[in-house]
Amino acid sequence: MNLILMGLPGAGKGTQAEHIVEQYGLPHISTGDMFRSAIKEQTDLGKKAKSYMDAGELVPDDVTIGIVNERLNKQDCQNGFLLDGFPRTTAQAEALDGILTRTNRKIDAVLYINVDKGSLLERLTGRRVCSSCGATYHVIFNPPKVEGVCDKCGGELYQREDDSEETVNARLEVNEKQQEPLLNFYRNKGSLYEIDGNRNIDDVFKSIETILGDQQ
Ligand code: AP5
Ligand code: MG
Repeated sequence: MNLILMGLPGAGKGTQAEHIVEQYGLPHISTGDMFRSAIKEQTDLGKKAKSYMDAGELVPDDVTIGIVNERLNKQDCQNGFLLDGFPRTTAQAEALDGILTRTNRKIDAVLYINVDKGSLLERLTGRRVCSSCGATYHVIFNPPKVEGVCDKCGGELYQREDDSEETVNARLEVNEKQQEPLLNFYRNKGSLYEIDGNRNIDDVFKSIETILGDQQ
């Protein structure tokens, strides 16, 4: 299955991706994670992306499309993949279509996690991420068993730099503007599935399983 996870910042894309990967064994391609690891490793890509991410803005399309193109052409993506946070603009969606058409592939389902805007700030400012395995927690909604420590690998939990209230507001504004035309793009293709993301993590995943059950 070739899948896309869509939703505003904090909608639960990364959280649901962890469950999808565990259940369906698809490679998880998160452009945000790719940029963060490039920043950590101080690569040229990291240097290009950092100022945009710090400001809560989108990294330019050519840079983002370039890294996704490279990743999708790797061997492990030939039998399915899960895109998380890409595409985020119509130009990215059109470029993705081109990449897939050239290699005789297509998107099977776009899973759009729709969450009321009012909850997103609380979700993002309370998020904690494992510095070692990347697992995602929330201080209230999904706390680790021991504060500050990852349940899965024992790694140290940290708060993402762009999860400050000021940057979160900028991210929400930028992403909201791009989202509607992108939803229409996939709605018109008949591949969009809207999921009520205002429920708890397990219930959201159950809806995803139901949708994906029909795809297989
Ligand atoms: P990225 O890392 O993708 O950030 P984002 O889109 O802002 O989304 P988040 O990762 O913040 O949210 P999420 O939906 O994954 O939520 P999560 O599951 O963690 O991108 C970062 C930056 O990179 C962008 O701002 C941009 O600069 C750049 N970038 C990335 N892709 C790009 C692209 N395509 N083009 C251009 N630039 C790009 O959940 C959030 C919290 O809520 C967690 O604490 C979690 O435990 C909790 N939670 C999750 N689900 C629930 C639930 N059902 N109930 C209660 N709490 C929940
Ligand atoms: Mg994420």
